[in-house]
Amino acid sequence: MSFSRITGTGGYLPEGLLTNADLEKMIDTTDEWIFDRTGIRVRHIAAPGETTSDLALHASRQALDAAGLRAADLDMILVATTTPDQIFPSTACLLQAKLGVGGCPAFDLQAVCSGFVFALATADQFIRGGQCRHVLVVGAETLSRITDYTDRGNCILWGDGAGAVILSRSDEPGVISTHLHADGAHRALLEVPGGVSRNDVADTKIRMEGRAVFRVAVNTLDQIVDETLAHNGISKSELDWLVPHQANIRIIQATAKKLAMSMDHVVVTMDTHGNTSAASIPLALDVAVRDGRIKPGELILTEAFGGGFTWGAALIRM
Ligand SMILES: CC(C)(COP(=O)(O)OP(=O)(O)OC[C@H]1O[C@@H](n2cnc3c(N)ncnc32)[C@H](O)[C@@H]1OP(=O)(O)O)[C@@H](O)C(=O)NCCC(=O)NCCS
Repeated sequence: MSFSRITGTGGYLPEGLLTNADLEKMIDTTDEWIFDRTGIRVRHIAAPGETTSDLALHASRQALDAAGLRAADLDMILVATTTPDQIFPSTACLLQAKLGVGGCPAFDLQAVCSGFVFALATADQFIRGGQCRHVLVVGAETLSRITDYTDRGNCILWGDGAGAVILSRSDEPGVISTHLHADGAHRALLEVPGGVSRNDVADTKIRMEGRAVFRVAVNTLDQIVDETLAHNGISKSELDWLVPHQANIRIIQATAKKLAMSMDHVVVTMDTHGNTSAASIPLALDVAVRDGRIKPGELILTEAFGGGFTWGAALIRM
């Protein structure tokens, strides 16, 4: 029986910064309001010309180094993103070229803020099925490109960044279980309306009913946490860490409360980069692995909720 295990992590945030003080000059808001409601202090913004695959490249190289692998060792490259460099080729193919390798399958996966969990689950299946030994799983976004900086209830959230993991075949799990869901009925609550097939490439900014999304997110994450624990027959107290999607500190606190977990065991990085959608879980994971908080053998729960709606969780032994 083979399983998948995380053997390396990486993260990258572009140099440009957008602080709450900067936003105070752009919209009618205050640092205090933003921090109280979201937990965010600053976002990173990709430079003009810096694309999602550029950010992904930095994070991928770090993850490969951490795993002690070369790009040529990869059997698959998966990029979760909502903000691809271009319509095609996929960002994964562009990343593959930047990594200087060819031949292995490379493709993008679109599940908005749940994208990383969906990509991790996909990679896990290819490894368990025996088709891959090492898979690069990336979440990368340049959300600043689709943010309406006149919409104060929305633009305060989003930032750019990339996170990556290497998932490798292992005799023991690793990824213990993954749980994925979607419900396409609520498009109007969170969407970017524009698209090529609708012949509308002008309307490419995020629209959100923040309060409604908040409510659905908290309830849905409650359910996915229950589902994951029940499926594995484990109790809350067995978890060492919660590594949540970094959407809003109040959503994260609600999940921590549900799990009866102290915030000391919740990895929170959103204050430093905002909501980076598919990049946020691997970014948070990378920070906590590198600073020594998350140690080999510990049990972590990751969960995410995003546009679609999509939601998912993964239980992982590090
Ligand atoms: C976006 C969010 C922070 C807004 O907070 P909220 O408490 O729901 O705020 P509301 O939209 O209800 O607005 C409350 C008031 O604050 C005002 N407001 C909105 N944005 C503001 C800002 N940036 N600064 C100051 N005031 C603001 C509103 O105009 C409203 O004023 P009113 O009461 O006079 O009408 C919050 O809804 C949220 O985080 N939702 C989840 C979004 C999310 O995580 N999406 C991604 C999922 S992956």
